[in-house]
Amino acid sequence: MCGIVGYVGGRPCRDILFRGLRKLEYRGYDSAGISLIHKGRFDLLHSVGNLDRLESVLHQMENGSTVGIAHTRWATHGRPSNENAHPHTDCSGRFAIVLNGIVENYLALRAELEVEGHSFTSETDAEVVAHLLERSYDGSLREAVAAAFQRMEGHFTFVAVTIEEPETIVAVRKETPLVVGLGEGEYFVASAVSAFLAETRTVIFPDDAELVVVTRGGVEVTTMDGLAVEHAPEVVDWDEDAAEKGGYETFMLKEIHEQPVALADTLSQRMSRDGLVCLDGLGITDDEIRALQQVVIVACGTSYHAGLVGKYALERWARLPVEIDVASEFRYRDPVMGPNTLCIAISQSGETADTLAAMRAARTAGARILAITNIVGSQVTREAHGVLFTRAGLEIGVAATKTFLTQVLAVQLLSLYMGQVRETVALDKVRALTDELRHIPTLLNSYLDSGPAADIERVAAAYAKNRFFLYLGRNIGLPVALEGALKLKEISYIPTESYAAGEMKHGPIALLEDGSPVVVVATDSHVYDKLVSNVQEVKARGAHVIAVASEGNVGASVMADEVFYVPAVDEMLSPLLGVVPLQLFAYYAAKANGESVDQPRNLAKTVTVE
Ligand code: G6P
Repeated sequence: MCGIVGYVGGRPCRDILFRGLRKLEYRGYDSAGISLIHKGRFDLLHSVGNLDRLESVLHQMENGSTVGIAHTRWATHGRPSNENAHPHTDCSGRFAIVLNGIVENYLALRAELEVEGHSFTSETDAEVVAHLLERSYDGSLREAVAAAFQRMEGHFTFVAVTIEEPETIVAVRKETPLVVGLGEGEYFVASAVSAFLAETRTVIFPDDAELVVVTRGGVEVTTMDGLAVEHAPEVVDWDEDAAEKGGYETFMLKEIHEQPVALADTLSQRMSRDGLVCLDGLGITDDEIRALQQVVIVACGTSYHAGLVGKYALERWARLPVEIDVASEFRYRDPVMGPNTLCIAISQSGETADTLAAMRAARTAGARILAITNIVGSQVTREAHGVLFTRAGLEIGVAATKTFLTQVLAVQLLSLYMGQVRETVALDKVRALTDELRHIPTLLNSYLDSGPAADIERVAAAYAKNRFFLYLGRNIGLPVALEGALKLKEISYIPTESYAAGEMKHGPIALLEDGSPVVVVATDSHVYDKLVSNVQEVKARGAHVIAVASEGNVGASVMADEVFYVPAVDEMLSPLLGVVPLQLFAYYAAKANGESVDQPRNLAKTVTVE
């Protein structure tokens, strides 16, 4: 996440940059900063907290400069602090940069630069870029940026300025957004069009690994080798609201499409070159993991469903008894646990009151606590012995989508890691699974790009007037069914029941009548044939079956009235793909019924009350 904006032109730009940050605040707001080139030196301002804090100190900075860069941060590496806030500078104070994304090899680069005598002032991955520029600068910022880019691994966009060339900014991207705004004698670079939409609507969208050199004279785009690249300017006709949503009609749809990047970010640096899982800084030692006798998972809502995936994964790979409970129930139980119990608390916000209370109860009972959360510095991180961060970026839609997917990935990584340490899963199996995991962001990206939405929208519109949906799944497909049903009820208000398919005959089957829609999670698994028998039972009662199935399953279209195919992967990883058509299905059903998708009634994104 993070939002970046840069300006070169004829007007004093302090306030222009700040207004740009305001439009990017949805991308993160734990700290912010601006760097202006003023009278041959940098004028730098940082603040911790949201943009109101930066605004309150903005007057400390002169507004005379016409060149500058700015950043609003969503912490990944290093807690929110003045030192970690962007822009970052090099040792000589001649270069400043802002970065969005992750520099995966920053530790190696940092070590290399430190040996050469560079000293670092932050804990961030981004700071290496300023030092790389300092090292390679030889009279051309463009060439220094090219040299730095070629050393960097990961996915990121960065914008650089130097007092050596005070009228130039250079930007480059790799798998993260960058847009250039073309005004009258003034130019902008930013993470999103919304940052400068009030100033210009004429834009170009550079491709990955292109160098964008912006001066008052214009914008030049070249390849790394200096060959000119032409991008025809486009005029965006989005309104400001749409621009913040990156052109999507809602935040939820945008966030569904951000899931490949969120997964890639969460995977980043968590797999070693030899294909094993490495979770450095977990806060729970390998000896503690070996000594474990029990795992207890506590969470609420969507996070509870991610926890259920964790139950299957931990049992299979770490061979530990796993108990899971909703936090609001767990906190008032009298659980039996001790020092060899690991309590995993899952909370995207890190602030849910029931989850915090459940953690405290587990701690009092003697357990070690590991929090899985999306928010650096949140309350769960203060109260747990260890933390595993998801890196979904800021989620605005109340119905969780990308945070769920990254929680699922986090529990899978944790389970594999614990299996590795406890020697309960063969290393070849770990390698095969991490190899699949590595490819899942790309698979999901291709899936979303292939346009499944049109078909899902058609089916959702056809069924949206039904007043009841039954969702079924078995084994690792069950949490997917539960989450799919929760999404539908949260945003479309259609009552749903979600059940273990084998248990359905003990009650929910009585609800079925001719034409009742039944959504079945039927991705490939060792219980697929059992699930098919359950589907026959609902079909015999006249139900209409909508199935999520793995590509290549030719029988699915015989079994179901409608099939949403997803790429086939190892069954334990299948929730990462299987839930996505159900998110889209809920989305389009709500839309067909004219509901407010991003702000469903009665719900809140963060629930800090009991
Ligand atoms: C609320 C949100 C859900 C979320 C749940 C738990 O109900 O609407 O989307 O799953 O809280 O939140 P947490 O932040 O602890 O994951």
